Amino acid sequence: MSLKSIAATPGNQQPQLVDPLDARQPQDGEVLCETVYLGVCGTDREILHAATPHVPEGESQLVLGHECLARVLEVGSGVDLVKPGDLVVPAVRRPTTGSTTEGIEAFKLNRRPDMMPWGAYVERGIVWEHGFSLPHWIDRPEFLYQVPAGIEEIAILSEPISVSEKAVREAEQAQAARLGTSEWIENPPRVLVTGMGPIAFAAVICCRARGWNVTVYGRDAEDTFRANLVRGFDAQYVNADTLSFSPDNVEQEGYELVLECTGNDRVMMQAAGLLAGCGIMVWLGASRLPQVREFDVNQIMRNAILGNHLYLGTVNNAPQDMQSAINHLSNLYSQYGETIAQMITEQVDPSDSLWHYSNREPQGIKTIVRYAGLT
Ligand code: BGC
Repeated sequence: MSLKSIAATPGNQQPQLVDPLDARQPQDGEVLCETVYLGVCGTDREILHAATPHVPEGESQLVLGHECLARVLEVGSGVDLVKPGDLVVPAVRRPTTGSTTEGIEAFKLNRRPDMMPWGAYVERGIVWEHGFSLPHWIDRPEFLYQVPAGIEEIAILSEPISVSEKAVREAEQAQAARLGTSEWIENPPRVLVTGMGPIAFAAVICCRARGWNVTVYGRDAEDTFRANLVRGFDAQYVNADTLSFSPDNVEQEGYELVLECTGNDRVMMQAAGLLAGCGIMVWLGASRLPQVREFDVNQIMRNAILGNHLYLGTVNNAPQDMQSAINHLSNLYSQYGETIAQMITEQVDPSDSLWHYSNREPQGIKTIVRYAGLT
């Protein structure tokens, strides 16, 4: 059976199986990789739903797939960061070559790719460059992160974990700047994570890696797979019916850190009522799909000023976040390895994957598309 690519086409909401592009031999400084696993993500579903994929220049489709575990097959001369046989996780975002006006300006800024403005970066499988739903592809070693032995089965989760890791790290840094570096070390924040998708579970992992107390808020009934998985991380689960969003004493019953992973304005507004003084809310969940607006955002702004709150939008990750994600998986493996593995709720072959690009099982978290064996 020949492996197909999964592609998004302008004007079409349905994913398509297409013949993969041929990969050439690696030139000097390049690496030839084979995709082992691909993660299906909410972003893939939104790209398809919007039917306006950012197709690479001169092409008619975008090859999807940005969460990837890959194996190095060959390296060009001068490459010594990786070698054939290594398992790697590729970075999603990379700077453009500087050919656009924005790209040139961004180069002058010398920012990290995750901090670059629109137009100054590409994202493989999302923005103007093909993704990894390909049997073989070429990359540069600086965009590949080594996967240590022992976490092969869960390393596909590195990219979504790195996105949550950036959110948590930025919150830590902001609070260290505002409150002093010892504040969250001596008084670990109480954390509320809203949502039960992959980014929410990734956020739980990043907080548990720091030993923080975590509560997850969701709509699932108490005795369901995902609610139990939350408990598997030694975190508390609260169901939508039982959480009071306006406690009598927010300093005692509230949270110093809210990681908002639903992208839902109602949940975000409600969770804002749970921020303790100097609390910080990080928005990780966002939806490109139009949604009904029902709340007075001015009220949040006022509370933010009076309560010294910080609302922080974060996207993508810094190289150090990718590295931290991989380190967390290694460090937590003995304690939570089996629980983390349960986040992978489905494994399919490319030819059976299309349904997952438009749908999610009610208790599903992460679907993996298998392109090659782990060994
Ligand atoms: C990816 C990020 C990316 C973001 C915006 C997410 O699904 O994990 O790497 O920056 O989408 O395109």
